[in-house]
Amino acid sequence: MSQTIAHKTLRGPALESLGPVTSEEARLLEKLDLARLPRHVAVIMDGNGRWAQKRHLPRIAGHRQGTQSARTTIETCARLKIEALTLYAFSVENWRRPKTEIDFLMQLLREYLKKEMPLLQKNEIRMRFLGRIHELPSAVQKDVREAMEKTAGNKGMVLCVALNYGGRAEIVDAMNAVLREQNGSASLLHVTEEHLSRHLYTEGLPDPDLLIRTSGEMRVSNFLLWQIAYAEIFVTETLWPDFNRARLLESLVEFQKRERRYGGIREGQPNTEKPARVAGE
Ligand code: FPP
Repeated sequence: MSQTIAHKTLRGPALESLGPVTSEEARLLEKLDLARLPRHVAVIMDGNGRWAQKRHLPRIAGHRQGTQSARTTIETCARLKIEALTLYAFSVENWRRPKTEIDFLMQLLREYLKKEMPLLQKNEIRMRFLGRIHELPSAVQKDVREAMEKTAGNKGMVLCVALNYGGRAEIVDAMNAVLREQNGSASLLHVTEEHLSRHLYTEGLPDPDLLIRTSGEMRVSNFLLWQIAYAEIFVTETLWPDFNRARLLESLVEFQKRERRYGGIREGQPNTEKPARVAGE
């Protein structure tokens, strides 16, 4: 196991805010260029069930452990001053799971919002929820609304929780919003990418630069289909409940290697700039 050490050679408020780091984390941090972090990180948190199965535990034990990984990821991204983090918590397809598991996931989210509110506030995190929120149980809708209201004034990272989310559903919802805007008139002859983007659940956020998927599956699973058009995809074999701070830093280091090779970013370019996109990339 790696030993916990304090920062000696690492500099800067963002790094200091991480507190004590393990030797493995320190090695990864040395490789990380804080000026070229992704602006938006999106995560498909997969493998909770397998994590539990390997330990002869019920699937819900994997989900519970998964909230610890969510906590670490949220706090670390906020402290590294990443602008936005989106976590895929519940998809429109997840309603096909057993009712007991669905109820547990909803309850877990409610507990999480209650328990973690001080951490969210301390880190100046603003919460958003992406998905067909109006279809969720009313108690969940209420908690979701409250979490958004309580954190609305925060100026730090935007934390998006994708809940009852589907990428195709989102595009359909955006298209319907565009049509509503036209007041049902037949005058809609042309829709631009920019126009449609303004009606997506992620309106106002930069598109994810990095998509992380845990547990080794090579699928996009109907997640942010529009927004990940140019995202770098990092798939790790690590199951979500084992995804710790070192694994997150590793994905950021890997992202920067790929950006250097393909992204057209010059060394030292600040992370407020979008990478130049190559035609046909
Ligand atoms: C995928 O694992 C995970 C989920 C469908 C739920 C993710 C939810 C959490 C981690 C907890 C709550 C989230 C937040 C933001 C606090 P799986 O069940 O598909 O795993 P498997 O593929 O191994 O069966």
